[in-house]
Amino acid sequence: MEPKSVFLPDILEGKVALLTGGGSGIGLCIATYFGRHGAKVVLMGRRKQVVDEAAKSLGTEGIQAIGVAGDVRKKEDCMNAVQKTVDEFGRLDILVNGAAGNFLSAAEDLSPNAFKTVMEIDALGTYTMSYAALHYLKKGGQGKQPQEGGVIINISATLHYSAQWYQLHVSAAKAAIDSMTRSLALEWGTDFGIRVNGIAPGPIKDTPGVEKLVVNMDGTVTRDIFLGDKSDIAQTALFFCSEGGKYINGATLPVDGGNWIKSTRYYSTEAVRTFSREYEKRRKAALAASSKL
Ligand code: COA
Repeated sequence: MEPKSVFLPDILEGKVALLTGGGSGIGLCIATYFGRHGAKVVLMGRRKQVVDEAAKSLGTEGIQAIGVAGDVRKKEDCMNAVQKTVDEFGRLDILVNGAAGNFLSAAEDLSPNAFKTVMEIDALGTYTMSYAALHYLKKGGQGKQPQEGGVIINISATLHYSAQWYQLHVSAAKAAIDSMTRSLALEWGTDFGIRVNGIAPGPIKDTPGVEKLVVNMDGTVTRDIFLGDKSDIAQTALFFCSEGGKYINGATLPVDGGNWIKSTRYYSTEAVRTFSREYEKRRKAALAASSKL
């Protein structure tokens, strides 16, 4: 069962959100939470049947939603998704750039076209959608303060904070996205009152990301990691869009249970307590002895 939202039910009343990668997984969960808090939502994805069915399922909850088929790698599809949003619901306030592609591949097996494919979906797609939405996101906000315009949320990752085996392509793409988050936050925040932030999810249960990247063939998880829920990401997205997030611009928040800061424990706490003090004692003794010479 999904956890209850911690936000007031009407915080997105009157708002319209467009989500790429919105037909399934994390994107659909964000859309669901947005809808439950009053937003009308547009789900963009490559497969028409998937986005249409997802929109229909939201409709059964009383959420106003439509699906739009499109590929974020194509500028015309991005422009079309934005236009359909405005035609259907009259405005656009929130863009979530969630469309992503990934697979494990050793660097030496990664063709330049495979690298380009992921860069185009993740990084270029994020830019093209933001570019397509700009006109309406500025109109959504009437003032010059960061809290008065529309909101963009870029879905990133933590892979590139150091390096991750077999993830060169996505690490490069997500690093580009984080850089874009800051640049757009600076320029569009200052000039148009649009807040641009990122969320860097860790491995999230029941998503293709976990199935493709961290699960063995027999379904067991490959590493010692904490798995999150889709709702963890959805509630963070809600926070960024809420009054509580109005002073946040240009930030990318890791939402991963602290996986990215995990590191190997080389000594037990007990061992450290003993030898750390012991070392200091010996050092002081050695210093005292040498000063007497
Ligand atoms: N390992 C290495 N290379 C791979 C690969 C893999 N597992 N899967 C695809 N590629 C390569 C292809 O061989 C091709 O390169 P080439 O022309 O040099 O042979 C290139 O990537 C493009 O593949 P293609 O299947 O034509 O691209 P696509 O646009 O149909 O699919 C992907 C895009 C590959 C990213 C696909 O995995 C996808 O659509 N993913 C969306 C969902 C997803 O990944 N979600 C997870 C998010 S964490």
